[in-house]
Amino acid sequence: MNLWHLKVLLLFLLIHATESAFPETYQWINIDCGAESYTLDTKNLINWETDTEYIQTGKNKNVTEMYTNITMQMKTLRYFPENTSPNCYSFLTDGIEKYIVRASFYYGNYDGLMKPPTFNVSVNGFKWMTVVTNSSQDEEPIVIEGIFSPGADQMQVCLESPQDGDVPFISSLEVVQLPFNTYYRLIELRTAFLLQQRATFGREEDVVYTGNFTGDRFNRIWKAKGFPNHTNMSTSLQYSYYYVDNQPPYAVLENAIEAPSLLDPIILSFNLSQTNQSLCAMLYFLEINNSRKVNDSREFQINIGGQKNTTTVNLQLGEPVLVTLYPEWVVGPVNITMSAVQGSTLPPMINAMEVYTVMEMYSVPSPTSEASRALLSFTFLVLCYFYALL
Ligand SMILES: *[C@@H]1O[C@H](CO)[C@@H](O)[C@H](O)[C@H]1NC(C)=O
Ligand SMILES: *[C@@H]1O[C@H](CO)[C@@H](O)[C@H](O)[C@H]1NC(C)=O
Ligand SMILES: *[C@@H]1O[C@H](CO)[C@@H](O)[C@H](O)[C@H]1NC(C)=O
Ligand SMILES: *[C@@H]1O[C@H](CO)[C@@H](O)[C@H](O)[C@H]1NC(C)=O
Ligand SMILES: *[C@@H]1O[C@H](CO)[C@@H](O)[C@H](O)[C@H]1NC(C)=O
Ligand SMILES: *[C@@H]1O[C@H](CO)[C@@H](O)[C@H](O)[C@H]1NC(C)=O
Ligand SMILES: *[C@@H]1O[C@H](CO)[C@@H](O)[C@H](O)[C@H]1NC(C)=O
Ligand SMILES: *[C@@H]1O[C@H](CO)[C@@H](O)[C@H](O)[C@H]1NC(C)=O
Ligand SMILES: *[C@@H]1O[C@H](CO)[C@@H](O)[C@H](O)[C@H]1NC(C)=O
Ligand SMILES: *[C@@H]1O[C@H](CO)[C@@H](O)[C@H](O)[C@H]1NC(C)=O
Ligand SMILES: *[C@@H]1O[C@H](CO)[C@@H](O)[C@H](O)[C@H]1NC(C)=O
Ligand SMILES: *[C@@H]1O[C@H](CO)[C@@H](O)[C@H](O)[C@H]1NC(C)=O
Repeated sequence: MNLWHLKVLLLFLLIHATESAFPETYQWINIDCGAESYTLDTKNLINWETDTEYIQTGKNKNVTEMYTNITMQMKTLRYFPENTSPNCYSFLTDGIEKYIVRASFYYGNYDGLMKPPTFNVSVNGFKWMTVVTNSSQDEEPIVIEGIFSPGADQMQVCLESPQDGDVPFISSLEVVQLPFNTYYRLIELRTAFLLQQRATFGREEDVVYTGNFTGDRFNRIWKAKGFPNHTNMSTSLQYSYYYVDNQPPYAVLENAIEAPSLLDPIILSFNLSQTNQSLCAMLYFLEINNSRKVNDSREFQINIGGQKNTTTVNLQLGEPVLVTLYPEWVVGPVNITMSAVQGSTLPPMINAMEVYTVMEMYSVPSPTSEASRALLSFTFLVLCYFYALL
C-alpha cells in the first residue's frame, strides 16, 4: 500500500471515527526525521512520515542505543554533514493562512562525539532561533515552536551549518495549518509569534492532542505548571460550550490556580533575552468555582513589568475571558502580576497562559529571493495571460 492509499484510508477512518467534527489531522504534517518508513501512532492516529517528500539534503541516523527513554520520533534524526547550508524542509502554504510549526532536537550522542552542536534555524530566510543542544536538561529534547503567517506560497524551515564545523540535525518537524485565520488574529501577514511558554495551571499532566475531544485541536502542547502554595482548582465542564478565542482545550479551562488569599498576588515570571523585544501574552480565565455565591465577586488587576497601566478583570460564572497584553516591549525577566481589587471577595485565579515574542518577516532577506520572487510573479502574469486567451 503506498502513501497515497494510506492517506485516503486515514482520512476515511478519521471522518468516521470523529463524525467529521474533529480537526483535519490528515492535513497535518508530522515528519519523523531520519526514519526509514512511516509509522502510524495508533493512540491518536497521527501518521509520522519520513523526510523524503520535504528535503533532499542530509543523512539518516539513529541515536546511540543507551538512550532509550525517549519517544520513537526522537530515536531517529537527520543530520547535515555536507556543509551545504542551508538545509531546508519545504512546504506548500496558502498565502493568507497561519501555521503552527514545531521542531524537536534530540542529540542522543548519535555521532559518538559527545559534543552537542549549536546552530541556527530559520524560516523563509528569517532567523527563528539559535538551537543550543548542549543546554538540554535531563536528556530532554529541545523543542521550539512558533505560529507563522508566511504570506507566501511556500514555507522553508532551514537548518544552517555554522562556521565552526558543528553539524546541524533535526529529530522531528510538525506543521499544522490553523483552519481559520481568525485564530491568533493578532498575527499579521508576514509575521510570526515565537512561543516562549504555553502553560496550563492547576493540573498534573500536560494537555496534548489525544485523537478525541479531550485534547488540543491543533496539536499544541500545554505544559502543566505547578505553583507551590497556590490552591489548585478543578471542575468538569462536561463539554458544555464555552467559546474563547484560540480555543484552548476544555482540559485546560477545567483547571486553574488561585492565590492563597485575597492579599496575595499571582505572579507569573519568565525570562526573555536581553534584547528589546515585542511580546504578546494571552491569559485565559474561566470561573470554575461552582459553589460561588451570588454576591461573591472575583475582580483583579493585571499588570505587566511593573507598569502603571493595568487591565481589570471581573470574572462571572460561565463566561471565559481572554486578556491579551500586546505589544509589550520588554528586556530580560518579566513579571505578570494579578492582584485582587478592593471589594473582591475571591482571590485572583488563572487557567492558562501563552507567551510569544514577535518576529517580523517583512524585509526581503537576500537578493536571490528577490530575484526568484520577481520570476514567480512574472510566471504568474504569463499564466494569467494564457487564461485570458482561453
Ligand atoms: C535505525 O534502526 C532501525 C531499526 O533498529 C534500522 O532499521 C535502521 O536502518 C537504522 N537506521 C540507520 C540510518 O542506521
Ligand atoms: C523516563 O522519562 C520519564 C518522563 O520523560 C520520566 O518520568 C522517567 O523517570 C524516565 N525514566 C528513566 C528510567 O529515566
Ligand atoms: C554549550 O555550547 C556553548 C556554545 O557552543 C558554550 O558556550 C557553552 O559553554 C556550552 N555549555 C555547556 C554546558 O557545555
Ligand atoms: C546565528 O545567527 C546569528 C546572526 O543572526 C549569527 O551571529 C550567529 O553566529 C549564528 N550562530 C550560529 C551557531 O551559526
Ligand atoms: C481520549 O483519549 C485519551 C488518550 O488517548 C483517553 O485517555 C481518554 O479516555 C479519551 N476520552 C474519550 C472521551 O474518549
Ligand atoms: C497544586 O499542585 C501543584 C503541582 O501541580 C503542587 O506543587 C502544589 O503544591 C499544589 N497546591 C496545593 C495547595 O496543594
Ligand atoms: C509555601 O508555604 C510554606 C509554609 O507557609 C513556606 O514555608 C514556603 O516558603 C512557601 N513557599 C513559597 C515558594 O512561597
Ligand atoms: C531567570 O534567570 C535568572 C538568572 O539567569 C534566574 O536566577 C531566574 O531563576 C530565572 N527566572 C525564571 C522565572 O526562570
Ligand atoms: C524597545 O523598542 C520599542 C519600539 O521600537 C521602543 O518604543 C522602546 O522604547 C524600546 N525599549 C527599550 C527599553 O529600549
Ligand atoms: C468558592 O466559593 C465559595 C463561596 O464563596 C468559597 O467558600 C470557596 O472558598 C471558594 N473556593 C475557591 C477555590 O475559590
Ligand atoms: C492602557 O491599556 C489600554 C488597554 O489595555 C490602552 O488602550 C491604553 O492606551 C493604555 N494606556 C497607556 C498609557 O499605555
Ligand atoms: C518578579 O517577582 C519576584 C517575586 O516573585 C521578584 O522577586 C522579582 O524581583 C520580580 N522581577 C521583576 C523583573 O520585577
